[in-house]
Amino acid sequence: MPVHHRFYSGTREYAQVVILECGSKSTPLIAGVCRDAGVCTRTMAPADFEHYAAASIPKAVFVSGGPDSVYDFAALQIPYGLLMYLNHNHGTAIFGICYGAQALAHAAGGKVKKASFAEVGTHMLKMKHVIGGYLGGPVVMNHSDEIASLPFGWERWGSTERSAYALFGTDNILCTLFHPEMGDTQDGEKLIAHFLYSLARCRQDHTTGPEAFVADAIPFISDAAPEGGMVVGVSGGVDSAVTLELCRQVLGRERVYGIHVDNGFLCEGETEEVRRLLGEDGMIYEDAARLFWRTCERINWRNRHEKDYFSELRQKVGERFISVFEKRARRIGGIRYLGQGTNFSDIQETNTGLVRHHNVGGLPDRMELEVVEPLAGLHKFEIREVAEYLGLDQEIVWRQPSPGPANSLRMWPPVTRAKASPVARANRILEEEVRRYYPDPRDRPSQYYAALISGRMAGIVGDKEVYGYAILVRAVKRNPRESYASAEPFSFPDDLWRTIDTRIRAEVVLQDGMPIVAVCWHGTGKPPARIECH
Ligand code: XMP
Repeated sequence: MPVHHRFYSGTREYAQVVILECGSKSTPLIAGVCRDAGVCTRTMAPADFEHYAAASIPKAVFVSGGPDSVYDFAALQIPYGLLMYLNHNHGTAIFGICYGAQALAHAAGGKVKKASFAEVGTHMLKMKHVIGGYLGGPVVMNHSDEIASLPFGWERWGSTERSAYALFGTDNILCTLFHPEMGDTQDGEKLIAHFLYSLARCRQDHTTGPEAFVADAIPFISDAAPEGGMVVGVSGGVDSAVTLELCRQVLGRERVYGIHVDNGFLCEGETEEVRRLLGEDGMIYEDAARLFWRTCERINWRNRHEKDYFSELRQKVGERFISVFEKRARRIGGIRYLGQGTNFSDIQETNTGLVRHHNVGGLPDRMELEVVEPLAGLHKFEIREVAEYLGLDQEIVWRQPSPGPANSLRMWPPVTRAKASPVARANRILEEEVRRYYPDPRDRPSQYYAALISGRMAGIVGDKEVYGYAILVRAVKRNPRESYASAEPFSFPDDLWRTIDTRIRAEVVLQDGMPIVAVCWHGTGKPPARIECH
């Protein structure tokens, strides 16, 4: 396995707060909210908790959401007996979220059953009793089981139209069917802070903010990379730009090289833009488009589920990135480290099997370079704060994220060079129009892209009926805990949408000469949709 140096700011080997990870995509956000509230956490699998608790008794335990149903034969088991022992004897407070809430209620004698309708997306929570200043409001739900009755002695504190028991508990056990950790849940952090400080009586043990983060990251980087040079993979996004800047400041510009790789699936003109933003000094621009096209075109796509196909694609793209970095490092000479802007969500999402991020799950087993990841403990919005603090260009600070495999995730299989160029063009048009309409990057949607969707459809060009393709335009709103675990769809104003639609239809041409006959707006939030198509 590659040697990793990961700086998990805000996590501790033995923390006051333990998060039992039951497989939810948003579990990393629980750690983020606790860290923001000034409390360090430790995340672990429920099966590891007994061993941990024998050495250190936590003040609070979160039981996260997850994909199982408590009645599944193979449902993930929570250490209920141990949790109750700690709760009764040591006052450990417990917070169950979604699956965690159902598992606690079920184990305590409540009834959980399949709901007649899944409750997914944003719903209104009405409070029966205000707790800790939390007043309810919009909450993000993502469940298909409901609580039919509470365990004896437990109380109902809040409900939604479809869930009678959406917020409930007893003494210092708090359960929510919704996700308070998600940015689209209003005031979720207030509820978590009440749990941490009033119910669990935690003490503040983490200093938040970019200044404190940078002060801690400096010794981490100098210890992780004591001698030799470093290449930093730089996409042009905020994560990698912050990594580059931090490593330059700590190790000195002469030891650090930024490498921007054109992987053949970037938005049109993107490399030139990164060049303008990051300059030439200490930067290497590598055109590896052909290599990546070949890599993708060799992946078997026939008779395969898209999930398997794109998972393999992420893996292969990841390996290809590393081979390009290592080849370049050998040519420079004396390079021992690879700096990456991998963030907390990338790591957690890959570890829980939700998305195989190329920069985590896509790393080859054997690597020549040691990987240094100073941002491994931070979420996107925290990285933006660090970028502001370091004085990076506003266009970088607020730049929308892009997946490492870039636009290759934004087309139907097989991923080919022929499809790369119309998608690149459509994305450039979208980018130009969004920027024109919203000169201040903070006003733009949090993420937006254009994708080529499969299947041809009828259109009318001139007086003739023609068949052509459709381009999907997806945009999501910025939320206060911008982490992309949940997202609300962004609606374009009419005049902006008209220009986007007209320009994409007029300017995007496919290799087979077929026109684009429709531009479709993707108006579904996450959950249930993902942000990327694949
Ligand atoms: P989803 O599609 O899971 O995406 O809602 C959430 C965020 O993650 C980014 N993303 C990726 N980033 N490699 C990356 O580096 C990947 O394979 C990948 N897949 C998704 C995506 O851009 C969005 O911001």
